[in-house]
Amino acid sequence: MMNLILRPRRNRVSAAVRGLVCETELSPAHFILPLFVHEGKNHRVAIKSMPEQFRLSRDLIVKECREAAKLGISAVALFPALAEKLKDKTATESLNPNGLLQQTVKAIKDAVPEIAVITDVAMDPYSSDGHDGYVNENGEIENDRTVEILCGMSIAQAQAGADIVAPSDMMDGRIGAIRRALDENGFINTGILAYSAKYASAFYGPFRDALDSAPKSGDKKTYQMNPANSREAIREVQLDVAEGADMVMVKPALPYLDIIRAIREAVNVPVAAYNVSGEYAMIKAAAANGWLDEKKCMLEALLSIRRAGADVILTYFAKQAARELQR
Ligand code: PBG
Repeated sequence: MMNLILRPRRNRVSAAVRGLVCETELSPAHFILPLFVHEGKNHRVAIKSMPEQFRLSRDLIVKECREAAKLGISAVALFPALAEKLKDKTATESLNPNGLLQQTVKAIKDAVPEIAVITDVAMDPYSSDGHDGYVNENGEIENDRTVEILCGMSIAQAQAGADIVAPSDMMDGRIGAIRRALDENGFINTGILAYSAKYASAFYGPFRDALDSAPKSGDKKTYQMNPANSREAIREVQLDVAEGADMVMVKPALPYLDIIRAIREAVNVPVAAYNVSGEYAMIKAAAANGWLDEKKCMLEALLSIRRAGADVILTYFAKQAARELQR
């Protein structure tokens, strides 16, 4: 027998004791379910690179929201897939009160008012260039012109009933400008979830397939962050908080757990993390091959994002995980 006073394993002897000392909780209340909406009725198209995820028409989105609310999920994040002919250089369609996104927000708020609706503020779904910002004659993304467009887009979304707008474009100064625009139009209670530390990541690939929204030329590196940087993430987050962000986000999540932790320690607003399409696809693909236990890996990945310091997780696993957690 070893002469050991300290035996950490005593805190792991049984399920009861392990439960007692568990440091991190996973709950559907902290999940946001991202949803892809397209035109039509009772129309559902599978997304090849994201098994079990679909582009859905408005009526099916409402159904999905009802189910999510029943599972205890607090919010959905909407992403519209638009016909190519509705896209132009200035994202005009994003302002249309009768447009796809605005009408979907209304339909959800009418039918399932208890679920929070979060809308994406960025030009890419509406842009003929496939960029989050305005592309000028020289092929440059113009910051200030883009911010003006984003302010209009935010107002249109708030008008439709969005609870929280989520600028995902990474332009400078957009949080302050959007906050002012919302307030001037009477939307003082519409929240802002800022995609503050959004990296130029290859893990967004499946999402761009889902929306057909890949940039037509160039890449997003003049606005999205370099994966090599972490101090810059803190700077971005601090600016967004100073400009009025109610919550900040790190994206992607799993390859950036260190960033989530650093931001958790740097600011006091809630921190969200986006478990992006590529992270989802990796687990699904490995599980489909029989290489990983899908359920266990999903829950471990989500738990790890919470442990790193995220309060809120955007994840395509939201419903599946919520079901597991109910058992
Ligand atoms: C674009 C946007 C992207 C995602 C959410 N909003 C893609 C991009 O920046 O190219 C990615 C989400 C995911 O991969 O799950 N405004």
